[in-house]
Amino acid sequence: MEIFIDSANLKEIESALQRGFPSGITTNPSILAKEPKGNFRDHINKIINLIREYKYDIPLSVEVFTANPTEMLKQAEDFIQSFDYKNLNIKVPIGWDEMAVIRSLRNKNIEVNCTCCMSLNQAYMAAKAGANFVSLFFGRIRDVGYDASSVVRATRQLFDRMDIKSKIIVGSIRHIHDINEAFLAGADIVTVPPKFYPQLVKHPKTDEAVGQFITDFKQWMS
Ligand code: E4P
Repeated sequence: MEIFIDSANLKEIESALQRGFPSGITTNPSILAKEPKGNFRDHINKIINLIREYKYDIPLSVEVFTANPTEMLKQAEDFIQSFDYKNLNIKVPIGWDEMAVIRSLRNKNIEVNCTCCMSLNQAYMAAKAGANFVSLFFGRIRDVGYDASSVVRATRQLFDRMDIKSKIIVGSIRHIHDINEAFLAGADIVTVPPKFYPQLVKHPKTDEAVGQFITDFKQWMS
């Protein structure tokens, strides 16, 4: 059970890295587009610098930003050249032509996170193409009326039964409860937007206990 950072915001990434829990970082073109306009390569390199500064060696996913398979391959090669980071994963969306892109990248030993999967069959095909990570989009699956937990659970069962080694990432997290549900359904990894991190450690009974301890001790000391 691992938590990835689903953000490209440098402050949010740094604040998470300072706290020790992240096991990876996922970005996508929309996430990057939320950041101030600038050079894409510079921004990814800043993320890599932060990872190094805080002494992590964790997967970083960067997504291709074209629908053309030949361009995807070119972009992937360019990312590998531009970003001097061994643990770089190229995010490629699931699709028929995209499967050939995944296969070709894997043949070159480039790690792939196959993204935008919404169903068991997509996850299976992504894994068979060789994706190291298969990303299922929890919130978006639910948007169209499907039970996202069932999709994650079925994927877990199939991967276990067939001894498929691809790791299941659950993304598109919209609510704190989605994180628990995804883990309980069998996700290896949940990639979580930073706004949920403080909530993950907050509990009213914790606040009550800590407050009571301090009050009791102060009274005893006075
Ligand atoms: C996962 O890798 C994606 O970056 C992300 O979770 C997509 O979620 P969205 O539905 O918020 O776009």
